[in-house]
Amino acid sequence: MKLTSDELRKKWMDFFIARGHTPISSASLIPENDPTVLFTTAGMHPLVPYLLGQPHPAGKRLCDTQKCVRTGDIDEVGDASHCTFFEMLGNWSLGDYFKDEMVPWSYEFLTEQLNLDPARLAVTVFEGDADCPRDDKTAELWEKCGIKKENIFFLGKKHNWWGPAGQTGPCGSDTEMFYDTGKPKCCPECSPACDCGKYVEIWNDVFMQFNKNADGTFSQLKQKNVDTGMGLERVLMNVQGLKSVYETDVFAPIVGKIEQLSGKSIADGECVKAIRVIADHIRTATFIIGDERGVTPSNVDQGYILRRLLRRAIRFGKGLGLKNGDYSAIAATVVDKYKDAYPELLSARDKIIHEIDEEQARFERTLENGMKEFEKLCKFLQSDVIPGKSAFRLYDTYGFPLEMTVELANERGFKVDIDGFNARFEEHKNLSHAGAEQRFKGGLADTGELTARLHTATHLMHRALKEVLNDPTVNQRGSNITPERLRFDFSFGRAMTPDEIKAVEDKVNAAIKADVPIVCEEMTVDEAKAQGAVGLFTAKYGEKVKVYTMGEFSKEICGGPHAARTGELGHFRIVKEQSSSAGVRRIKAVLE
Ligand code: ALA
Repeated sequence: MKLTSDELRKKWMDFFIARGHTPISSASLIPENDPTVLFTTAGMHPLVPYLLGQPHPAGKRLCDTQKCVRTGDIDEVGDASHCTFFEMLGNWSLGDYFKDEMVPWSYEFLTEQLNLDPARLAVTVFEGDADCPRDDKTAELWEKCGIKKENIFFLGKKHNWWGPAGQTGPCGSDTEMFYDTGKPKCCPECSPACDCGKYVEIWNDVFMQFNKNADGTFSQLKQKNVDTGMGLERVLMNVQGLKSVYETDVFAPIVGKIEQLSGKSIADGECVKAIRVIADHIRTATFIIGDERGVTPSNVDQGYILRRLLRRAIRFGKGLGLKNGDYSAIAATVVDKYKDAYPELLSARDKIIHEIDEEQARFERTLENGMKEFEKLCKFLQSDVIPGKSAFRLYDTYGFPLEMTVELANERGFKVDIDGFNARFEEHKNLSHAGAEQRFKGGLADTGELTARLHTATHLMHRALKEVLNDPTVNQRGSNITPERLRFDFSFGRAMTPDEIKAVEDKVNAAIKADVPIVCEEMTVDEAKAQGAVGLFTAKYGEKVKVYTMGEFSKEICGGPHAARTGELGHFRIVKEQSSSAGVRRIKAVLE
């Protein structure tokens, strides 16, 4: 069956609209007022407040196609099905229908809309544990639809539980739908839990009726929700029996453009990985820059992920012989492919092209210096192994991904001390929580002194705001720091007066003048709370947390990094105070 992405999106929406759902548009890829995640990773993400019980303005039945970015397995990209960007088709019941409706609808959509062979469908359901009973109800519903008993598999939490997206929040048991590729069973126990490739996942229905609490326990939500998600690219691949997502219509023109520009073919085993990586990374970069809250390449947060994607694409492009300007030309093909489904890309077309060209030029500059550094390093090498600390320097200072250093070294008959690199990387991460990925664990993305100072200023300002505004609702809602400025979102219902702004500046500057040392201690969350530390984003913390104390001026749970003493900060000035969204104010401030 030849199903295109446009047809699949339309079938999805029509199906659920006919069943009383209101279509909502994709939320931004960059979550608003959620400092704990860098990107929207699932359709339910922007809907958390509504799953928890807040009424949604569009009603209790919703459906959409959500733009998602997951960078967790960026290194897997290049295989048949891992992508850093994907579209998630989703539908929701916010305290409305539940299993009785959702299971038959799922069966109907798969067999009548996607025309999948019912005999090849397999499903998994939750086997039950102390937190939630075995889901016999869902299994019965599947059987009633026509799924044979032997194709219904009961599995545990590892496989049949979804969420929460962070460490706390809505979650529940789920039922997953798989398509049997027809491969023989790998063993007598072969089931959808295997990764032998016999069964491919196509859809996930989550019965969200629990909230996971910070202490690891589960409590019943006020309402029973349904949250489902279907990955558009993978479904297209599976429904059409294709070998990779890159053969589907969403990727075909992008891959075609790369082939045309490079003169290489994806059918050539030597080039397949490079072409897939470039296609995936440029597609994701295009969506990140072209988002309604789009960002540009930088060393922090989403901008750092974007930089990493672009540089990785450029590195692979070098092997294919791609030239300056080729990457933005590939991005233009992405815009063209998606302009009807995501018109924001068309509005941002010039910006996307400009940013990609600029980043390429910037990388070209570091690349040259990095290559000089690399040659020097090889010349003075005492053995045939490049030390981990040198590979780390190439990574940290010149933006060389490790695998690039390894490849360059191999060409000269050298090896790289990868363990040594990893040890440095870990050390560095622990010291400074470098790398935007660490944000998930509570760190900050930039290691630069300027950002560290602005980060310290953010803590001092947070405290000063609480004191000056003297309002218990004042709390951090988001923070974004570049080497030039800090940006801080906090909950507060009105604009600040000029006097209040001045008073906050004065307090921060007094703390700077006091030149107190900044002390970092590790302790449990409970100990930190007992000491009166301000706890931000508690949901994301592991067992032990770091607490930064700045004399009498501030005590906060935080991943760092920070300045050594407040005196390093210079002079603090608020540049702007404005509304960010309803009930949230945004401050931009600088150190000078
Ligand atoms: N939230 C569910 C998922 O991402 C549907 O799989």
